[in-house]
Amino acid sequence: MRLFITGGAGFIGSNFVHYWLTNHPQDQVVVFDKLTYAGNLENLKDIESNPNFKFVKGDICDAEAVEKALAGCDAIVHFAAESHVDRSIMRPEDFVRSNVLGTRVLLDAALKNGKLRFHHVSTDEVFGSLPLGSSERWNESEAFLLFLPLSASGG
Ligand SMILES: NC(=O)c1ccc[n+]([C@@H]2O[C@H](COP(=O)([O-])OP(=O)(O)OC[C@H]3O[C@@H](n4cnc5c(N)ncnc54)[C@H](O)[C@@H]3O)[C@@H](O)[C@H]2O)c1
Repeated sequence: MRLFITGGAGFIGSNFVHYWLTNHPQDQVVVFDKLTYAGNLENLKDIESNPNFKFVKGDICDAEAVEKALAGCDAIVHFAAESHVDRSIMRPEDFVRSNVLGTRVLLDAALKNGKLRFHHVSTDEVFGSLPLGSSERWNESEAFLLFLPLSASGG
């Protein structure tokens, strides 16, 4: 399997990349990341020579770059986002752009590429939190908690 991992140079994304390559060493991983202030290639330094790992610097809002890098992938795991609450209040436009428009570009690309499996990693700021171990699940028909630009943008 070949995974297209957006935001893989960030905090959770880079931990997921390490987890995946350790537990699925036969799989290939393409990390697609704009390297904003939150992205750091140091997070991926120890795997840069792994033949199953590839890094592509790019913006998820750039449909052409996404489609090019996505070629041959079987699934998208989407971590790329503006993710910090304080910044969402100071610069909400960045959140609308990456979290809404960027996610839309990825969804379109997934459809065009034969309906790829799509995992969107988001935040409990969007629907709210559930008790640890709860068997309940949020789903898309629940109302958003629109307290902050972060939650309103689905980040
Ligand atoms: N860190 C947490 O405690 C936490 C908790 C709950 C949910 N989340 C959610 O998980 C997801 C990932 O969080 P994180 O903490 O790893 O975020 P992060 O801010 O550490 O990393 C985000 C990554 O996305 C990249 N990125 C941002 N905009 C981009 C764009 N337009 N194109 C391509 N790459 C772009 C950045 O360069 C960075 O590498 C977010 O949706 C966040 O809201 C995080």
